[in-house]
Amino acid sequence: MAKTKKRYICQACGSVSHRWQGQCADCAEWNTLVEDAPATVFSQKHDLSSGGRAISFVPLDAPAEPLVRRTTGLAEFDRALGGGLVPGSAILMGGDPGIGKSTLLLQAAARIAKGGGRAVYISGEEASAQVRMRAERLGLADAPVQLAAATSVRDILTTLGEMEPPALLVIDSIQTMHSDMIEGAPGTVSQVRGCAFELIRFAKECGTALVLVGHVTKDGSIAGPRVLEHMVDVVMSFEGERSHQYRILRSLKNRFGPVDEIGVFAMEGQGLAEVSNPSMLFLSGREEPLAGSAVFPALEGTRPVLVEIQALIVRLQSGATPRRAVVGWDSARLAMLLAVLEARCGLSFSSAEVYLNVAGGYRLSDPAADLAVAAALVSALADKPLARRSVWFGEVSLAGEIRPVAHGGLRLRESVKLGFEQGYGPEELPDRSPGLNYRGLRQLANLVDRVMSTP
Ligand code: TYD
Ligand code: MG
Repeated sequence: MAKTKKRYICQACGSVSHRWQGQCADCAEWNTLVEDAPATVFSQKHDLSSGGRAISFVPLDAPAEPLVRRTTGLAEFDRALGGGLVPGSAILMGGDPGIGKSTLLLQAAARIAKGGGRAVYISGEEASAQVRMRAERLGLADAPVQLAAATSVRDILTTLGEMEPPALLVIDSIQTMHSDMIEGAPGTVSQVRGCAFELIRFAKECGTALVLVGHVTKDGSIAGPRVLEHMVDVVMSFEGERSHQYRILRSLKNRFGPVDEIGVFAMEGQGLAEVSNPSMLFLSGREEPLAGSAVFPALEGTRPVLVEIQALIVRLQSGATPRRAVVGWDSARLAMLLAVLEARCGLSFSSAEVYLNVAGGYRLSDPAADLAVAAALVSALADKPLARRSVWFGEVSLAGEIRPVAHGGLRLRESVKLGFEQGYGPEELPDRSPGLNYRGLRQLANLVDRVMSTP
């Protein structure tokens, strides 16, 4: 006999608890537990070892069907996807509100529709008229995208089931969808999970590429249901600062391709423009060097991107606790670097406020940024600019050594292309680029000597 038992699901992490609590025991968020549709618990043990159908095994080296991908026509989108949309795959796209997810997906849908594919765009957030207005603004009003404003998954799947399956189905957003089979308001974990499950099943059966837009919470994870990330094939995030023009499309998980390639776009009056050569977007273009500024040749997948790192150090008079503020880099990494500079190089930051900013709204994730950050900090502390047209890269260890990093040659070649003349990095660098004066540094102390001795 089946009996039902109450259960509560944390709306932040999806963990299940049988008792209501103010704080989730798993992720420590407050007031996130919501009663869920009752789960059926069987009081008798069921025997699962008989009555099923036999499954067949295949060897690992069985010939695989080659992946066919459909290019969207937006080369930067395709690049971030690993070469295009895979039919039958499910993609979750996260990003802050207003960053441009709807714009990007409408542009992609229009490209596919204009190229002869069927593209369906379902908006649960905006009325069709609003989406049409956006399309007009983007100059895409003539694209044969099938557009609807709907939130009922049953209605959507019934409608799609009666027509030829689309090549691309965009659901904007999954948090606004609801299924009448599931209890709870739209946006709760059980609704989001249930709706996503139904939509993904449709996509797999029909060979449709499905894109689910997902809202992002303050801390950057896709709102509420982390569970969604496990259900889909690709998780992408669309990043950038709203106040800046540039946007980066990154894949965080991809079952069909690499996860380190990025797509770069610029938000313009006519929608998102592709930026096919992003290497100098995040530079200030200033000729005269400034104290506290260092240029870092970052690598995004196979593409070099040069970024300016800015540091500001303010000495405090009183004994107040000094602030450390970071935009675009990891604050724990900054704390580590400050500690290494204090312990290994004898510099003191303890009575100073430290501000670090990566220009252009860019977010650095490359560990080779350590040396450039250290150079910016030391330059700011000494109030001395770094060498003109110089780039800095290398990982810093806790012992204060500059450790080798991947693709030094590629970083230097791009720097030369953009007019840089001096490179500083790890001593071991197998592939030095001609046309640039390279100096290997062994210790962080060598960097400090170098900066302090500049006139
Ligand atoms: P949107 O795609 O609605 O963001 P999301 O779906 O991620 O919430 O983008 C909205 C922002 O983009 C809005 O602030 C205005 C800006 N925008 C432009 O600058 N140019 C354009 O052509 C369009 C369509 C939007
Ligand atoms: Mg939107």
